Amino acid sequence: MSKLIRRSNIRQLQASVALALVSSLFVAAAHAHGDVAPQPVDTKDLPKLKGEQAVNPYRGTPNAKKAAEIGSSAFNQNCARCHGLGAVSGGIAPDLRYLPEGKEGDEFFAMRIRNGSVRNGVTYMPPFGNLFSEEAIWAIRSYLDSVQVAE
Ligand code: HEC
Repeated sequence: MSKLIRRSNIRQLQASVALALVSSLFVAAAHAHGDVAPQPVDTKDLPKLKGEQAVNPYRGTPNAKKAAEIGSSAFNQNCARCHGLGAVSGGIAPDLRYLPEGKEGDEFFAMRIRNGSVRNGVTYMPPFGNLFSEEAIWAIRSYLDSVQVAE
């Protein structure tokens, strides 16, 4: 066998090892988005809510600041891996600072956080409705209120 052929075989092998490495990285990244266990949100310092709310019940109350603080940590633990730290999107999911203010944004926010987003059998965002208390949901919305930017 000539040296030339052997060298090209080695190069081919190197190329396929590199390809295998790169694709396993992609698989790992895909799993990182779907399988991370949700982190509990401690809302004992917030007033209890009765039933599903349609509008942020903490907005404009003395509890808004506390709710935003709790929501900030809940957001960074549960949402930031897709929506970015500080809600500044790194590109894979919408930048949530631009959610509409007030009631309009509340409705859309509540629908998404409860149901997630599944299209054609593909989960773009997992549902959190069964994982978070009503208080936790509106704490996160209060946090997003605090970083909201007009479009
Ligand atoms: C696995 C990644 C992922 C996680 C985790 C995630 N999201 Fe999302 N989220 C997305 C994607 C992707 C979309 C866009 C969905 C679409 O276009 O159908 C989205 C959309 C949204 C929207 C609608 C925004 C818009 O402008 O369309 C809201 C609100 C939202 N997410 C809130 C949250 C909150 C709050 C959390 C944490 C409790 C969270 N998301 C966790 C990926 C994620």
